Amino acid sequence: MTDKELGKGGEPRQQTTDREKTMTTAQGGPIADDQNSLKAGPRGPVLMEDHVFREKMFHFDHERIPERVVHARGYGVHGHFELKEAIPELSCADIFQRVGEKTPTFTRFSTVAGNKGSFDLARDVRGFATKFYTQEGNWDLVGNNIPVFFIQDAIKFPDLIHSVKPAPDRGFPQAQSAHDNFWDFVSLSPEAIHMTLWQMSDRAIPRSFRFMEGFGVHTFRLVNAEGKSHYVKFHWKPKQGLQSVVWNEALKINGADPDFHRRDMWDAIDAGDYPQWDLGIQVFDDEFADNFEFDILDATKIIPEEQVPVRIIGTLTLDANVDNFFAETEQVAFCTQNIVRGIDHTNDPLLQGRNFSYLDTQLKRLGGPNFTHIPINAPKCPFHHFQQDGHMAMHNPKGRVNYEPNSWGEDGGPRENPEIGFQSYPAEVEGTKQRVRSETFADHYSQARQFYISQTEIEQQHIAAAYTFELSKCQEERIRLRMLSHLMNVHDDLAKQVAEGLGVTEMPEPAKPAREPITDLPPSDALSILKN
Ligand code: HEM
Repeated sequence: MTDKELGKGGEPRQQTTDREKTMTTAQGGPIADDQNSLKAGPRGPVLMEDHVFREKMFHFDHERIPERVVHARGYGVHGHFELKEAIPELSCADIFQRVGEKTPTFTRFSTVAGNKGSFDLARDVRGFATKFYTQEGNWDLVGNNIPVFFIQDAIKFPDLIHSVKPAPDRGFPQAQSAHDNFWDFVSLSPEAIHMTLWQMSDRAIPRSFRFMEGFGVHTFRLVNAEGKSHYVKFHWKPKQGLQSVVWNEALKINGADPDFHRRDMWDAIDAGDYPQWDLGIQVFDDEFADNFEFDILDATKIIPEEQVPVRIIGTLTLDANVDNFFAETEQVAFCTQNIVRGIDHTNDPLLQGRNFSYLDTQLKRLGGPNFTHIPINAPKCPFHHFQQDGHMAMHNPKGRVNYEPNSWGEDGGPRENPEIGFQSYPAEVEGTKQRVRSETFADHYSQARQFYISQTEIEQQHIAAAYTFELSKCQEERIRLRMLSHLMNVHDDLAKQVAEGLGVTEMPEPAKPAREPITDLPPSDALSILKN
C-alpha cells in the first residue's frame, strides 16, 4: 500500500496492489478511485452512469432506520444464564431443567422516553430486556427496573407516550420538558400514581445499569409437564447491589457525559468486571391470588416480597460487548410474545396488548417480516417452518414441500410434535364482550402509600424534592393542584412537603378514590434502595 502519491486534486492516494485489501462495491467490483466522481471533463457535469458514486451514495442515504417508538436509547450486551436450581415441578421449560447449564443471552438496557441521541441520566424508567436463546426457542423477558407500570390497559399506552414525548406541532415539549402534558395525563389517570412514586424515587436515576434491579412486571404462568400451572413474577437482583445518583449529580453527568451509562457498561465488561444478576421467581397459586388484597392481573401492583419471598434459581452474567452496535443493539427485536413451553401468559390486559404491539412495530422498524433472519434475533436451536419469501429473506423452506398437511412422508418437511410443542395453558375464559376495567383494579393509592412508608427518611425527601421540581415546571396551576389532590391520598407528609415546595398555601380537596385505600399495609424493606 502506498499513501505517498497525490491524486489530481492533491488528495493523498491510498492505493494497494494486494487483491485481498482491494476496496470493492457491494457487488464485489474492485474500485480504482473512491475520491473522484466520474465527470465529463475536469470541470464537467457528473455523469449519471457513475455506478461507484451512485451505489455509495444510495447506501449512505439509507443508513438510518426508524428509532424505536419508545426505549429508543439503549445499550446491548451479550451474556449467559446459568441455572442454579432446577424447577421441573413448576415448569417444563427446557431452560429450567438442568443445573449448571448455560444458556446464551442478549440483554438491552434502555431509557423509555428520550430519543436515540438523548442522555443517559434522565429521570426515567429503565428497560431491562433479555433474550434467552434456549434449546426450545427464544424466550424474551422484556422488563423494566421498576416492578409496576403507569397504566392497566394497553389501550392507554399511545396516550401515555404522547404525553411525555415532544409535541407533534413543534418537535419539543410544550412546557419546559414534558411536564404539563405528562402530569395532566397522570393526574387524570389515578392508576399511574403508584408508578410516579417509583419514578420520583432514586430508582429512576440509577448510578449505572449494573446497579439496578429488573422486573418482568406482569404476572406470568409457569406450567409443568403434567400441565399444572403456578403464577410467577420474575425478578432480577443485581449482585453488585443497588445504587443511584442524586438529582444534582444526574444533571451534571448529563452535561459532562451523556453516554455515562453505556460507557460504564462497556468499560466494566472490557476490563473483565462482568456484572451479574440473580434470576428470582415469586411463585404463588390460585388460593394466594384469590386472597391477595389486589388483583394479580393488575400491572400497577406488586406482591410484597415479605408475602411471597423471591426464590433465586439462576444467574445472568454479562460478559461480552457487541462487535456491531447497529446489527446487534439496534436490530434486536424483543417481544413479550416470545415465550417457550413451560412459561405462559395471563389475562393481564397490559400484557395482552404488548403481545400485539412489539411484533407490529418491529415489522416496520426492521423493514419486513424476516427480522428473525438477522443473527441477533435468530434462535440458536434447530428450527424448521414453512414461512417463506418477503423482504430480505435469507432462507426459505427447502425440498419437496412448503405446506402442511402433506402426504410426502419422510420428504414432507417438519411435522407437529404434541409432546414437546407449545401448549397454551387451558385457562377458563368466560364473560360478556364489553369495554370495562375490573373493579378489582380500582385501588390506586394503597400501594403508593406502602412504597412511600417503606423508604428511608432521605429517600422520602428525594421523592418529595423530585415531585416539587417536576411539578414546578408545570405551567398550569390546575394540574399542579390535581396532582396534589392525589398525593394527599398517598401520604399527608408527602403532600404537605410538595405543596410547600410549590408555594401552595391552600390545599385542594383530596381526590375521590374509586375504591377506599387500605391504610395499614406494612412497610416492605425490599422497596427501599438504602435498606438493600
Ligand atoms: C419497547 C410497546 C409496556 C418494556 C417497546 C416498544 C414498543 C413497546 C412498541 C418498541 C419495540 C421495538 O421497536 O423493538 C409497549 C406497550 C406497552 C408497553 C404497547 C403497554 C401496553 C411496557 C412494559 C414494560 C416494557 C410494562 C416493562 C415490563 C419495554 C422494553 C422495551 C420496550 C424493555 C425495549 C426493548 C429493547 O431494548 O429493544 N415497548 N410497551 N414495555 N418495552 Fe414496552
